[in-house]
Order: sequence, then C-alpha cells, then structure tokens
Amino acid sequence: MAEAKALNFKVRGFLFELRDIDGRLCLRAPHLAGYGAISADWGSEDVRRRVKGGKKQLLAKAVGLHKHPNPHVLDGTAGLGRDGYTLAALGATVTLVERSHALVRLLRDAQTRALADEALRAAADRITVIEASTHALLASSAGEGAAWDVVYLDPMYPEDGKSALPSKEMQVLRDLTGGDADADGLLDLALACARQRVVIKRPAKAVWLAGRKPSLELKGTQARFDIYLPPSKA
Ligand SMILES: C[S@@+](CC[C@H](N)C(=O)[O-])C[C@H]1O[C@@H](n2cnc3c(N)ncnc32)[C@H](O)[C@@H]1O
Repeated sequence: MAEAKALNFKVRGFLFELRDIDGRLCLRAPHLAGYGAISADWGSEDVRRRVKGGKKQLLAKAVGLHKHPNPHVLDGTAGLGRDGYTLAALGATVTLVERSHALVRLLRDAQTRALADEALRAAADRITVIEASTHALLASSAGEGAAWDVVYLDPMYPEDGKSALPSKEMQVLRDLTGGDADADGLLDLALACARQRVVIKRPAKAVWLAGRKPSLELKGTQARFDIYLPPSKA
C-alpha cells in the first residue's frame, strides 16, 4: 500500500487527516476509534448499484428524469457526491455544491479519477464541483430568476436520540461539518431558483424541512423524497 504524507487539520476541536492512499485521497477521523478512511469513489460498488437502479429508482423519479431527461440539477448538499454522480450518470448535468473544504477535496479527487476512467468519464464530465455555501449561492442567484431546473438537497438530519445509529461514514461527516442545523433556511431560497422543482431527501419518518408540507412525497423504506413545486408550477 502506497501512502503519501498526511495533512492534519482540526475542525471544531476534532483532529482529521487527509492522506493519499494508493492514488486516492482519503479522510480519517482518528478520534472515532475503529473507523476506516473514507473517500469519494464514483466507481464503487455502492454507486454502481445506484446507477443500475436507473430511472425507475425513487431518486430519479423525484428529480423528474422520466419527464425531463437531461435537467440541470443543483445538488446543494454534495457530501461525497453519490446522489449527484448517480443523477449525472442517468443524464443530468449536475452542479455539486459543498461547503466543507475537506469534502470538496475528496469530490475533486473523485472527479479526477472518474475522468480518467472510460466507464465513468461521460457522467463525470457533466459534473461541476463548487466550494461554497449553498445558502449564499442560492441567495445570490435568486434575483436573476430560476437558474437550475431542479434544486436537490440532502441535508444531514439532526440527531434526535431516537433514530438508529448513524453509519460510521455519516458520523465522520457529522463531526467534520457539525451537522446541517441551518438546512430549513434553504427551502425558500431553493424555490426561488428552481424552474421545475425542489427535491429534499429525508429519513423516511423525519419531519418536513422547515415544517412545510411538500406538493408530493415519494416514500421508500429508509428515505423519503419531498417534492416542492415553485409558485409558477404549483
Ligand atoms: C448528508 S450529506 C449529503 C450526502 C450526499 N447526498 C451524497 O450522496 O453523498 C450533506 C452534505 O451537505 C453539505 N451541506 C449542508 N448544507 C450545506 C450548505 N448550505 N452549503 C453547502 N454544503 C452544505 C454538508 O457539509 C454535507 O457534506
């Protein structure tokens, strides 16, 4: 295993480590004992399975790929880019926005590797990664009319002590980003910037974002997609 020198950094009192392992940028959180390194990998088994789910899977239906096959989607909560890459592989042009600098580095690393892989290149080429706050990006775009066909958001759900334990990966992301307690504020901004719809991914039993009833809900066993139509379409 080839390991390059690590870059150590502290976020909110937690120490993290970014390190290149075998040509892939990996993030570790040494304070979470026993947790392995995480990376963004759009060629992973998990992402390939998602892409294989095609346009009949809930994510694709929620975004409306059956009606508008090649939308421009703003994924305002990019994380590791799995949902965003899946949408791009199914035909969307995707702008991935992420505010954690470490995660942006993982996303850019994933895109570089995907562009060098013939099987992943076409979808990776339809993705743009932006390091920004989606609140700020949407607020600055709102006055200019709808900028994207679909705004897609998958904010972390607050820990309520009742839900199942988060996955190890989600725990690392939670410690890195602090959770997404300001997510409610994204809904109105997103509605001002989406030509067709705003889609919010939530845990199946979670309350609605900003307490607002969606126009439509698509329910899966673990996740639910809440669809909000902008005023012009409602
Ligand atoms: C649950 S993860 C998203 C996982 C992602 N859907 C995937 O497929 O990998 C939520 C991510 O959204 C990011 N995020 C939340 N609010 C944001 C905002 N206002 N601006 C930019 N990034 C945001 C967080 O930093 C976190 O990485």
